[in-house]
Amino acid sequence: MSKLWSGRFAASGATLLDQFNASLPFDKKLYAEDIKGSIAHATMLAKQGILTQDEADQIAKGLLQIKQEIEEEKFVFDIAHEDIHMSVETRLIDLIGEAGKRLHTARSRNDQVAVDFKQYVQKHTLITVRALEEVIDVLMSIAKEHTNTLLPGMTHLQHAQPINLAFHLLAYVSMFKRDIERLESSYHRNNVLPLGCAALAGTPHNIDREYVAKLLGFDSVSVNCLDTVSDRDFALEILFNISTIMMHISRFAEELILWSSYEFKFITLSDEYSTGSSIMPQKKNPDVPELLRGKTGRVNGNLISLLTVLKGLPLAYNKDMQEDKEGVFDSVETVFMSLNILKEAVRTMTINVGRMKQACEVGHLSATDLADYLVQKCNIPFREAHFITGRAVAHAEGLGIDLSVMSVPELQKVDARIGEDVSEYLSLVHSMNARTSQGGTAVSSTCKQIEIFETWIQSR
Ligand code: ARG
Repeated sequence: MSKLWSGRFAASGATLLDQFNASLPFDKKLYAEDIKGSIAHATMLAKQGILTQDEADQIAKGLLQIKQEIEEEKFVFDIAHEDIHMSVETRLIDLIGEAGKRLHTARSRNDQVAVDFKQYVQKHTLITVRALEEVIDVLMSIAKEHTNTLLPGMTHLQHAQPINLAFHLLAYVSMFKRDIERLESSYHRNNVLPLGCAALAGTPHNIDREYVAKLLGFDSVSVNCLDTVSDRDFALEILFNISTIMMHISRFAEELILWSSYEFKFITLSDEYSTGSSIMPQKKNPDVPELLRGKTGRVNGNLISLLTVLKGLPLAYNKDMQEDKEGVFDSVETVFMSLNILKEAVRTMTINVGRMKQACEVGHLSATDLADYLVQKCNIPFREAHFITGRAVAHAEGLGIDLSVMSVPELQKVDARIGEDVSEYLSLVHSMNARTSQGGTAVSSTCKQIEIFETWIQSR
């Protein structure tokens, strides 16, 4: 098979070389972007008088036919053509002859692959944003129903202070909101056209890059061609953005796993999104959140891979860069599937409000409130109040009860300055609702946070 670049070669390449060199098995995913980019390029070449209108029309028609052949699985892929770019071009020349040979004027595969890959990344950036929005919608609707659902807030995975479930879920809404903002910021920063840089140095042809940018939906044209054909920052950005999303998903998944265990029992995952054991008939396993946690590993790997591929590459294009695609495809597909299944698993889970409240009744969650009471009501310095409260906790432990239900006389044994009104301060609901500061867990503050997120959602 004669290659498009075979002119200077006396012998044809070995089959082993084709197998090693080809990116076709994976970059055929980029066929639609490749064809779109080529039609825009040909349209511009005709506008500039570099091609005749008739040639550009033949090219566009041929390319659309190729697109259809690929989509109907009639296209014959042959790795001897190396990549999607040369596969499409070779087929175009088969189909339309002479005009097809003119398409590659003022273009190189180096700017071609960049524009194809960038279109893919931009498209999937927006798809990921939409998938995140859907997860946020589910979290918001659960949050709105659970502003009064007590939950033990934890640090070090130890009971800390009472919070409510909505407040906890809004922490994840905050993370996913930042993820959306990061993706959108990357989208805008990278919405710059690479095509028209040719191999590395630009082209002597009188091309109109601004016009191509407009045709392909880019906001502007890259400034320096040498940078452009060697730049994969846009790919690194989506990989980092996805790693961060998966890290957030993984933290949530870890909580779902813990919460669905017998020890916690805060939630029950639906049968639809749980699995059984092949040997233990009683088992219902949280495979979904476990896989979410597990898949975080591979997307992190993809980020590190590309960073490693790119480090130390001299300008401009090097074949190493062909290693940029598989990891991005994998991360993009993994995060999409992960967000969709997370959304469903959370939407269908049962929340065991009673268990959450019960869990708040152990671990002396309102201890900080006693210390705050001693400061506010008895004018005791916080450090001393902290110590007295520690003594009260030890006393409660001795009695085998939780501090929140300790009687006033018992408390007064620890410190006589403690007044009759203390009980109210030690109740769990009071403790939660006392935290009215901006961003705090009080129901009033939680409702304000819901409002802030809703305004943000509506403004989009
Ligand atoms: N298949 C190549 C890649 O994915 C396309 C660019 C090839 N350019 C070249 N000068 N060999 O990076």
